Amino acid sequence: MTILSQNCTPFEGQKPGTSGLRKKTRVFMQPGYLECFVQSIFNAIDGVAGKTLVIGGDGRFFNAEAIQIILRMASANGAARAIVGQSGLLSTPAASNLIRQRQADGGLILSASHNPGGIDADFGLKYNISNGGPAPESITDRIFSETASITQYKTCDTSDIDLETLGDTLLGDMTVEIVDPVADYAELMQTLFDFDAIRAMIAGGMTLRFDAMHAVTGPYATALLEDQLGAPKGSVLNGVPLPDFGKGHPDPNPIWAKPLVDMVMATDGPDFAAASDGDGDRNMILGKGVYVTPSDSLAVLAANAHLAPGYANGIAGVARSMPTSAACDRVADALGVDCFETPTGWKFFGNLLDAGRVTLCGEESAGTGSDHVREKDGLWAVLLWLNILAVRKMSVREILLDHWSTYGRNYYSRHDYEAVDSDIARLLMEDLTARLPELSGQTFGSCKIRQADQFSYHDPVDGSVSHNQGLRITFEGGGRAVLRLSGTGTEGATIRVYLERYERPEGDLDVEPQTALQDIATAVDRISELRLRTGRTAPDVMT
Ligand code: G1P
Ligand code: ZN
Repeated sequence: MTILSQNCTPFEGQKPGTSGLRKKTRVFMQPGYLECFVQSIFNAIDGVAGKTLVIGGDGRFFNAEAIQIILRMASANGAARAIVGQSGLLSTPAASNLIRQRQADGGLILSASHNPGGIDADFGLKYNISNGGPAPESITDRIFSETASITQYKTCDTSDIDLETLGDTLLGDMTVEIVDPVADYAELMQTLFDFDAIRAMIAGGMTLRFDAMHAVTGPYATALLEDQLGAPKGSVLNGVPLPDFGKGHPDPNPIWAKPLVDMVMATDGPDFAAASDGDGDRNMILGKGVYVTPSDSLAVLAANAHLAPGYANGIAGVARSMPTSAACDRVADALGVDCFETPTGWKFFGNLLDAGRVTLCGEESAGTGSDHVREKDGLWAVLLWLNILAVRKMSVREILLDHWSTYGRNYYSRHDYEAVDSDIARLLMEDLTARLPELSGQTFGSCKIRQADQFSYHDPVDGSVSHNQGLRITFEGGGRAVLRLSGTGTEGATIRVYLERYERPEGDLDVEPQTALQDIATAVDRISELRLRTGRTAPDVMT
């Protein structure tokens, strides 16, 4: 094998966003593009000589080809071992688990999460550190600065590795170990949940559906829900991962997983349903006749986690991203544990989890997880819900109503305006930022602004500060709106508007959320001039 040093010139815009580098697939496929980014990662972490890396992805178009490129580069850069999921598959939480279980130095996860896959869709790559979690900003900043000055990358002239056969092979001096992507993850789940209780509930007639959306969770869900927990064959829908996710949009929300929502809303629908996204870290939870918002799901899980064996001793604390509703704050209050508010993106939970300050974390964007790995985890959330249902012997709807009548309800919705002209979006945010100081005290319709500011996060563990993490507008009476630009899009800008209003336990808990939030939505539109400036009349997606 010959090690080759290839000259290259930097590609513009290789800046990791909320979750790694996301670009159009064809951008990633340009000669040298992936190579420059991977070498920049290696350079940013002081090389990979002698190191062990976990490598895998969500199976989307270009997944296997990218893995071959990365393996050759890892070998040429002196890595000792690469642990790779069979067929190049690893869900994001399973990759996080493998990094931890195998004490690897880090991992490369190939995914654009919930973005569509295909040659004309999206691709992505992110680096995770040895705790199994996404690289913190200090490292992603270093990666970006390496991408700006890179002149050379290392690779070798070997043929492709067989990604199908389990076991060890050599690529130059590096051992490539192909592992079953499901086994270690399934074992971890068995330590956290009462599989016997869930099995008994299912055997007793409780019906469920899990929509894998033709993405990576198919094999995981089939093994866990059907093979181990006894759900009848066919309970897992769209369970075979496809490179283009069956031309779908693998985002588990009521828009993109509408067939599943329609199913649970029907009178003969299943008792419980759930879906996960492209790389398996997101979740959507549904019960017969009811959709559980991710913010409510986090709160319900926090209040009930002790019912699962893995959390029997209670939770140390909870963390949520700033735009996530404050529903879990009320649970934390009642439990007497801390609740942290972090910027959007799972990487900000890592320090709190490592320091043992929190056990559960969540984001409004369908991400929930715990200290069992350092990523959000879709199937984990499904299994914790099933465990809770099995113990409480109530329906999803009953659990939700009981929760609201105990803690009150945080009406919540996110409105996304997608593929907005980048300059218009940037100006809108800049102008609004400039006006923040003068907003408090002003009234828009029925909403009086109490306070308006920009969110900065002071990490209580390592003292780092992250500025510019979203604009917050709070209203008299407890309402809130948040505006921020997405950091994961690949086309123009996506403006996210997050709306929230609290209703006390004795108030009206059964209003349709968009109706409950109408006044705040109208006020935000007037404050930001969003529709006027973008020419849009309605959001593209409401979750
Ligand atoms: C989105 C979500 C965020 C999540 C991220 C990665 O990021 O809003 O909560 O962590 O995807 O799954 P955004 O596009 O808003 O930057
Ligand atoms: Zn994802």
